[in-house]
Amino acid sequence: MRGVVVAVDGPAGTGKSSVSRGLARALNAHYLDTGAMYRIVTLAMLRAEVDLLDPEAIAAAADVTLSVGHDPNVDSAFLDGEDVSAEIRGDEVTRAVSAVSAVPQVRTRLVALQRELASGSDNVVVEGRDIGTVVLPDADVKVFLTASAETRASRRNDQNVAVGLADDFETVLADVRRRDHLDSTRALSPLRPADDAVIVDTSEMTEAEVVAHLLQLVEQRSEAVR
Ligand code: DC
Repeated sequence: MRGVVVAVDGPAGTGKSSVSRGLARALNAHYLDTGAMYRIVTLAMLRAEVDLLDPEAIAAAADVTLSVGHDPNVDSAFLDGEDVSAEIRGDEVTRAVSAVSAVPQVRTRLVALQRELASGSDNVVVEGRDIGTVVLPDADVKVFLTASAETRASRRNDQNVAVGLADDFETVLADVRRRDHLDSTRALSPLRPADDAVIVDTSEMTEAEVVAHLLQLVEQRSEAVR
């Protein structure tokens, strides 16, 4: 028997990661962070000094040995057997990851790996940008989280301030808008909800409220397929 498969997509700043982990805990499910996989490949490219303006060079270096864990309580990301879970969250990787994740050969390879990791009999929550549309179009429940650009910018600005960076809401907001435009207009796997996704606006909701709402959706869906 196969477990319940939940796809959670949406832009950064919607609480997607915390919510996906919370949902996985509540469902006793595996958790798959596909963004971490793009980040590991990006780190490998940075270490190999691949020219990130050259998609062919990126494609040629895409065959990276990586692994990620499936426990929602543990961040585990490995590159060639080395634990890189902290390093992939750094600024350098965050700045470079868009260029790497736009290359078709990188996506094809990671999508195949994601499908393999999501298969099996366990319940699984898979978090990303294209899970409901491309990676797992047959997922049992598809959720697309949104929040206003202002809310997402404000959350990011608060995070910046908390780690000692400048308090500059307007600049952060402009960056959020720019990235929204890039993500939703790119040719390959643009960020958009699947036709059968449930869209949840998290602007006015706490993390616990969003998790409770998603649990309800999963329960309704499980009853419907039983
Ligand atoms: O969710 P995140 O910030 O860790 O994602 C890192 C980058 O990878 C982000 O630029 C979007 C990209 N990404 C993607 O293109 N497809 C996915 N399924 C997940 C992430």
